[in-house]
Amino acid sequence: MSDYPIAEIRSRFPGLQRQVNGNQAIFFDGPGGSQSPESVGDAVKHYLLHQNANVGMSFATSKETDALIEETMRACADLIGCEDYREIIFGQNMTSLTIQLASALSRTWYPGDEVVVTRSDHDANVRPWVLAAQWAGATVKWIDIHSPHCIHDNDTIDAAINENTVLVAIGAASNFSGTINEVEMICRLAHAHGAEVFVDAVHYAPHGLIDVREWGCDYLACSSYKFFGTHQGILWGKFDRLTELPVTKLRVSSEEVPFRWMTGTQGHESMAGTLAAIEHLEWLGRLISEENISARREALRVAFSAIEEYERELCWRMIEGLKKIDGVKIWGITSAEEFELRAPTVSFTHHSITAAEIGEALAEHGIFAWAGNFYALELSETLGLEPGGALRVGLLHYNTMEEVERFLRELSSILAG
Ligand SMILES: Cc1ncc(COP(=O)(O)O)c(C=O)c1O
Repeated sequence: MSDYPIAEIRSRFPGLQRQVNGNQAIFFDGPGGSQSPESVGDAVKHYLLHQNANVGMSFATSKETDALIEETMRACADLIGCEDYREIIFGQNMTSLTIQLASALSRTWYPGDEVVVTRSDHDANVRPWVLAAQWAGATVKWIDIHSPHCIHDNDTIDAAINENTVLVAIGAASNFSGTINEVEMICRLAHAHGAEVFVDAVHYAPHGLIDVREWGCDYLACSSYKFFGTHQGILWGKFDRLTELPVTKLRVSSEEVPFRWMTGTQGHESMAGTLAAIEHLEWLGRLISEENISARREALRVAFSAIEEYERELCWRMIEGLKKIDGVKIWGITSAEEFELRAPTVSFTHHSITAAEIGEALAEHGIFAWAGNFYALELSETLGLEPGGALRVGLLHYNTMEEVERFLRELSSILAG
């Protein structure tokens, strides 16, 4: 994609200039956490130095904090495609918010109800639901995957979802294999049986435009630090459900949505960073677009369509390169026909060198990539990769083709001993 403004994008991320042992660092650790643009750091600093306050009073910093919370909720609503910004809840991270939602939902479930989880998800989208089912006396059903492609097995989707199902928890994209799941299809099927759907969009969020209305889900969570922002979780749910669910809250805290879900004092500076991260993506959309876009959602649409195209080229080269290295096995989609069903996150193993050893050797060369199961424990076990897991390279919108080529060269020489 020749007109993708990679130089302008990279110039906004000072962290990318880091040197390690005389080499320019390569950040392929995005699925664990992305780098942030300077604007995110500036926003956090500005909030802390000039606006730091608690909410709800009439003095300037408190009013500005209230305004910041609302503005960040509005930006998140544009990011995920919901109409009402009051459906956005902030919390510590996706895991904590999911546990909070699961415990509220569990109080509405009974023995005989069934909760569906997958073998492909991060444990934050498995264990909270397994525990919630246990608390309610409900049963857990599993959606399996086909190995090594890491695509859901449709037979197990059909077998798992039925009229007893109360909730299906799925990931939009796997943080291990990169597989993009058929969220819309699962939402239709679940709704046909009267069940709700929770989507973990943590891994998907930096790669594609989330659209809760088009997908048709009932709840969705993501994390700002994966899309260039700060350490903050974001939960979305339908207004009526957020109003009626029996969430654990203090007597003194608000009865209003979304604040009845937001326990204690929030990370206001993290909200400033989340807002700036969404504005970064909006900036990209406006830069690329040939038209004068007024709505933020439209700018985000343009940004993500360019990001998708760009990342796909990098990912394709990564996979082609890995396929040519002796002893490497890729866990996930590798065929051109299915390429739209994957995010640019590639996990692989080698027949004789462990993922941890490869990760350590890469680190020496200034290449940051994770080894392990990335908390997608069920998937790693299903693939027979425990203990040890795989080596994961995650590409983001600021990575380059030169980095992919250098990675492939360094990896080849590491594996050749
Ligand atoms: C797919 C996926 N889901 C959930 C999580 C957990 O997110 P958080 O760290 O915000 O709790 C992660 C974190 O790596 C993830 O990759």
